[in-house]
Amino acid sequence: MRILVLGSGAREHALVTALLAEDAGHEIVAAPGNAGIAADVEVIGLDITDGAPIADYARDHAVDLVVIGPEAPLVAGVADAVRKAGIPVFGPNRAAAALEGSKTFAKRIMDAASVPTGRAVRATTLAQVQAALDDLGAPHVVKADGLAAGKGVIVTEDRDAALAHAEHYLQQGELLVEEFLAGPEVSLFFLADGHDVLPLSPAQDYKRARDGDAGPNTGGMGAYSPLPWLDADFGSEAAFVDEVRRTIALPTVRALEAEGTPFTGLLYCGLVLTPNGIRVIEFNARFGDPETQVVLPRLVTPLSGLLLAAATGGLAGLPDPEFSPESAVVVVLASEGYPENPVTGRELTLPESLPAGVSIAHAATARVDDRLLATGGRVLGVVARADGFAAARAAAYTTLEDIHLDGGHYRRDIAERVS
Ligand code: AMP
Ligand code: GLY
Repeated sequence: MRILVLGSGAREHALVTALLAEDAGHEIVAAPGNAGIAADVEVIGLDITDGAPIADYARDHAVDLVVIGPEAPLVAGVADAVRKAGIPVFGPNRAAAALEGSKTFAKRIMDAASVPTGRAVRATTLAQVQAALDDLGAPHVVKADGLAAGKGVIVTEDRDAALAHAEHYLQQGELLVEEFLAGPEVSLFFLADGHDVLPLSPAQDYKRARDGDAGPNTGGMGAYSPLPWLDADFGSEAAFVDEVRRTIALPTVRALEAEGTPFTGLLYCGLVLTPNGIRVIEFNARFGDPETQVVLPRLVTPLSGLLLAAATGGLAGLPDPEFSPESAVVVVLASEGYPENPVTGRELTLPESLPAGVSIAHAATARVDDRLLATGGRVLGVVARADGFAAARAAAYTTLEDIHLDGGHYRRDIAERVS
């Protein structure tokens, strides 16, 4: 298959790696990619938020499938343009991507589908925010409606901090004040073809910058998969996945279909396992990063067939994707100052060779002459796969010691308490 992958992060590097691992002779092109992706496949310079030139490229080069990695092109309507040109595309149209792009739209769909989620109040004035904070109590959760590069959500005991956050984001429009949901978080991805869904294997993400879940929220500092502790609460991973499929993923996809905005692509269910049951904390309209780096290496079923089936309405009747029982861990190396003010442009050095089961997913890297540079906040993820979490952790952390980036930092406690 000729496959065009859009994006430049570790998620896209993980997608490319999984497609190459099929060994099926795919011709893969990525736009714009990064230094890691460029070492593996052809990369081209395309503005990935501009649909028409992407559709033209795909048609002119007989691309069989376009895979859209990040949310920005989805919200910009790139899938609409490619789909209109008659080319299979993995990624929802703009209207369905509002599931991620607008938190108030997501809440409305969840209501329509009777999907369990936290109580939330919409607010357009500070007075409404104040009333909602009092009504819902502390800890306070305030969310900007639109995409805010991970900065739109505040979770705090401090009412003044919640109000200051609200005041800032009210200038951009509506807000949600939400009930605080306590419990472990799980990311569970579903492939969706507009009508049916197929689950991938669950993962857990570490959102805070520092060990022990201290520091500010980030895009994600590490992840692991599978989640062996689900067995204690749900009997098995399969039972958990089935419940989420039945009560959350399928009703959501059906509600979007009923609204005339079918969802084709990756439905990311961000869940909290509260004492009162599973609740949706957020939906995303694309693969999660860094969770994808630990989910895809465990996928046994060829990824390209799954993505194409989703893109062409062909999931019905397919068996659930198969996963290896191996443990996978990813630890993210971030630039100094991430997430507040990452220092970029510093040289990065990587080991000549990697231990068995270890790979590096490049996130923000570029090659300039013969130097490798860190060009953003999250620079790369060290991914390790092994029999058991102790071995996977050890392999990831040993590899990190051989990677050099001045001021670079990473969490030391990824998957620490999992066995
Ligand atoms: P979001 O952008 O909605 O994913 O929120 C970012 C992070 O904030 C989530 O991964 C949670 O860790 C936290 N968060 C969001 N909403 C809530 C909530 N209602 N209760 C507790 N934590 C939340
Ligand atoms: N790791 C969280 C996300 O991809 O949104």
